[in-house]
Amino acid sequence: MDNTELMYQEQILDHYKNPRNFGRMDNASVHHHEKNPLCGDEIDMFLVIGKNKKINDVKINPHGCAISVASASMLSEEIKGKSVEEIERLKKENILEMLGIPISPVRLKCALLPLDTLKNSILIFERYVRKDGA
Ligand code: FES
Repeated sequence: MDNTELMYQEQILDHYKNPRNFGRMDNASVHHHEKNPLCGDEIDMFLVIGKNKKINDVKINPHGCAISVASASMLSEEIKGKSVEEIERLKKENILEMLGIPISPVRLKCALLPLDTLKNSILIFERYVRKDGA
């Protein structure tokens, strides 16, 4: 493992031990829960989306392996202030780049659980919550 990979590995462990934006909230525009059926790990995501369709706040409550928790934590930092359109454009590649270490096919579901949760949260928001008639 080279120095860069080691640095990313340490970063993942740090996010796993101290997930950023950890918690729950009562005033979320949307709250969504997802589970990895293969292992039972789960995540709750809470988003506050403003009238300008930007993510004003986010809270995550992940229970899972290091990769899934770190991915959720990093993603929560990444999306603050981003627009719904920017979120919709996020891809698997962005998550893998953010994590920075090679992810085996078996762990891919772990890495992508937070992104799936985020995308589905936005879908729910757009379909059922948004009331601006746009
Ligand atoms: Fe369950 Fe990674 S082992 S999400």
